[in-house]
Amino acid sequence: MTALKAAPNLQNRPKGVAAVEQQIRKQVLRKLTYGLYVVTAMNESQAAGGTINWLSQASFQPPLIMLAVKKGSNLHKLLEQGAPLAVNILGADQKEVAEAFFRPSQREGNTINGYPFRVGVTGAPILDAVPAAFEALIVGSLPGGDHTIFVAEVVEAHLHRDAPPLEMWDTGWFYGG
Ligand SMILES: Cc1cc2nc3c(=O)[nH]c(=O)nc-3n(C[C@H](O)[C@H](O)[C@H](O)COP(=O)(O)O)c2cc1C
Repeated sequence: MTALKAAPNLQNRPKGVAAVEQQIRKQVLRKLTYGLYVVTAMNESQAAGGTINWLSQASFQPPLIMLAVKKGSNLHKLLEQGAPLAVNILGADQKEVAEAFFRPSQREGNTINGYPFRVGVTGAPILDAVPAAFEALIVGSLPGGDHTIFVAEVVEAHLHRDAPPLEMWDTGWFYGG
């Protein structure tokens, strides 16, 4: 994949205007709507999980997703090595699960951050608690700023129960701007 180019700087903007524009940009970007997912990944020696909102489907055929993952996070370390991942879709009543995965990943036996998982067909950890999940394999990445955009192909889906998904707007949390 091609690396991103920085947008050209707009010249001669007074400092005060730039600050106001930055504030408006933040307000506007925070109006984007998102879901909240726990993305988990695992290789032979390590497992990681993080709550992510910068995630979307990106193609029907093949079924691709894209997600932006913070550089330096445990999740990033595994995904850049091409570890299989699972997108664990949280139920509307599972805010506390999202909170548990804001913290750095800690694996103990068959749990990550206290939540039990089973190993899927790709080797990715699937959380028992979630209503639905899918497994995906990394097919490319796009280095940009402080996050890397990973593209992955969906290879297996799991429906544990039919439940409405957790939506970012309903939580009062923001990650964006
Ligand atoms: C509301 C909210 C949304 C988040 N969304 C993302 C995201 O889209 N991408 C990301 O890399 N981190 C996101 N994070 C941060 C991760 O949850 C956090 O860095 C990660 O769980 C740290 O664990 P790790 O270092 O073990 O991977 C978000 C945090 C919050 C509070």
